[in-house]
Parts: sequence; C-alpha cells; structure tokens
Amino acid sequence: MEGSIDPRALFTLNYGVYILSTGYEGKFNGQIINALMQLTADPICMAACLHKDNYTTELVEKSGRFSISVLEDAVPLKFIGLFGFRCGREFDKFGECQYEIGSEGLPLVTEYTLAGIELKVLSVQEIFTHKLFIGQVESAQLLKEGNPLTYANYHRVKKGKSPANAPTSVFNQVK
Ligand SMILES: Cc1cc2nc3c(=O)[nH]c(=O)nc-3n(C[C@H](O)[C@H](O)[C@H](O)COP(=O)(O)O)c2cc1C
Repeated sequence: MEGSIDPRALFTLNYGVYILSTGYEGKFNGQIINALMQLTADPICMAACLHKDNYTTELVEKSGRFSISVLEDAVPLKFIGLFGFRCGREFDKFGECQYEIGSEGLPLVTEYTLAGIELKVLSVQEIFTHKLFIGQVESAQLLKEGNPLTYANYHRVKKGKSPANAPTSVFNQVK
C-alpha cells in the first residue's frame, strides 16, 4: 500500500466548477477552476489554486483581485471549453460571453451562472506547478436559483475532460 496513489480514491473528493476572472489595465480574462473552497466565515476568505503558466494567474498577480462565477448544471460543454481549454493570450474570452461589472470593478459572467463573488488577494503561496491565492470576499450576489455544476457531473454526466493545467487532470484516467 505504501507509496501507491489510486486516482479513484482522489476522485471521491467533491468540487464545484467555476470561472475565475480578473481585470488588469482594462484587459479582462478568466479560466475554469475546480480547485476553490471557502476557508473562513468572519471575514469570509477563499482559496483558489491556479497553474503558473495560465494567463489568468499572471493577471491575478498583477491586479491583486479575482472574481468567481458559479456555473450552473445546465452549462454546455462548449461554453466550459471557451474558458477551460483556450488561453486568453490568444483571444478575448470576454468578447464571446455575457458579463457585468461587479461593485468592486471585476467581470462577472452572467451566462449559465448562479452567483458572482469578488475577492481581494491576501496572500500567494507557490505549490510546485501552481500558485495558491487566498482571497477575502468583498462582494457576493445571487444571480438566479438553480443547481450548481459539480466536478463529478462534469466528468460523469457531461463526459468532460480536464486539461493538463488542472490540478485534478489525473481524473481523466479514472473513467
Ligand atoms: C473542468 C476544468 C477544471 C479546471 N480546473 C483548474 C484549476 O483548478 N486550476 C487551474 O489552474 N486550471 C484549471 N483548469 C484549466 C484552465 O481552465 C485552463 O488551463 C485555461 O485554458 C487557462 O486559461 P488562461 O490561460 O486564459 O488563464 C480547469 C479546466 C477545466 C476544463
């Protein structure tokens, strides 16, 4: 047993699927993330883990802020592909989706989303290939009632894949 890692064991952990976005010097960008969780209640803080190579990571480090758009269960795979399989260095993702600007000035995607949350970065921790951003919530709004997309349903029902930059890309092997 010692030293063996069964990806099926890791796949028993639960996650949601979100768009993490930011804005810097007039440029908006965002990416899909499942590595997100709430950490504290007072004040409300969250942690998000982003690959070092992602354009979003670069912009979050520069801006010191990020937003979370909570995806609903009915979101099409194609829409997830826009934010999760393509890099914002090559095209303008926010030119291809509906969004609004939150009270703290960050973009919040309004298509296929249930809620929008804005955060300011408190700290950044390097973790090998990724950077862990801890943020404090500055605003949160419910856009509509509905079922949030779970990471398990993204894989099992929608038959989606996770690209190499996702911390949980090993799940592609489980199915
Ligand atoms: C379902 C799913 C989950 C993902 N989870 C993460 C994640 O937690 N962290 C991460 O860095 N990338 C994750 N990704 C990969 C990024 O969304 C992807 O690399 C994206 O193209 C980066 O875009 P950017 O270069 O414009 O920032 C995920 C992708 C998908 C489809």
